[in-house]
Amino acid sequence: MKCVTLFRRDDHCWQAFGQDPEKPDRIIDTNQYMIRSGDSAILLDPGGIEVFPSMLAALTREIPVEHVKALFISHQDPDIGSSLPLWRRVCQPDIDIYISWLWESFASHFDRDAVFTTIPDEGLEVALSPSLRLRFLPAHYLHSSGNFNVYDPQARILFSGDIGAALIPRDRPADSLFVTDFNRHIGYMEGFHRRWMPSPPARDAWIAQVSKLDIDILAPQHGLIFKGDDVKRFLDWFATLEIGSGIAAMNR
Ligand SMILES: [Fe+2]
Ligand SMILES: [Fe+2]
Repeated sequence: MKCVTLFRRDDHCWQAFGQDPEKPDRIIDTNQYMIRSGDSAILLDPGGIEVFPSMLAALTREIPVEHVKALFISHQDPDIGSSLPLWRRVCQPDIDIYISWLWESFASHFDRDAVFTTIPDEGLEVALSPSLRLRFLPAHYLHSSGNFNVYDPQARILFSGDIGAALIPRDRPADSLFVTDFNRHIGYMEGFHRRWMPSPPARDAWIAQVSKLDIDILAPQHGLIFKGDDVKRFLDWFATLEIGSGIAAMNR
């Protein structure tokens, strides 16, 4: 699994893990992220059960696993949180696990003994360390009914979960973890957003919310990462996209 550093200043660091060549073909490709501040690390959308072995191997090349103090699970999907019981087996017993209050009892189907810290609809601010506070921002209905992003105001990075996701064709593998040609990239994310994102009012509210933030990097859970001008290009593209395409099947 590839590991790319997105930001580093002193002991504050963001890393992305993904594009795992070991991944079975039938499993959707995912990006996992780690934020570190000193000896404390949080994993954002730690991944599915199938990617756990390569994710753990890649992570322990960077830090001892005991430094993982928290897991953030943006929503209920198995590609995001089905690895939960495996992480709990290798991490400290007092690890913090964050998830929307809406999904607590559903995520317990992954791990009935896990103890969650639930995130209220309005979001939550948490201290990863004495010097770093992270903001869990609401992103409901995009696509999940209880869904959160993570914003780091110091690194100016927004982890956007499935928003900004792209499905890169297997026969055209990317040579980078970053978007390098936005117009070509539209072809990889258009179908996903049209179908998976159901609600124009939710989309509009989310864009209004994140447009107030300083964002250098927008990091989704699938596909490539947007940086610099491509962040604004993505927001402008998403703002006018026709979404909720599955509704047409009920209107025949
Ligand atoms: Fe999802
Ligand atoms: Fe996803």
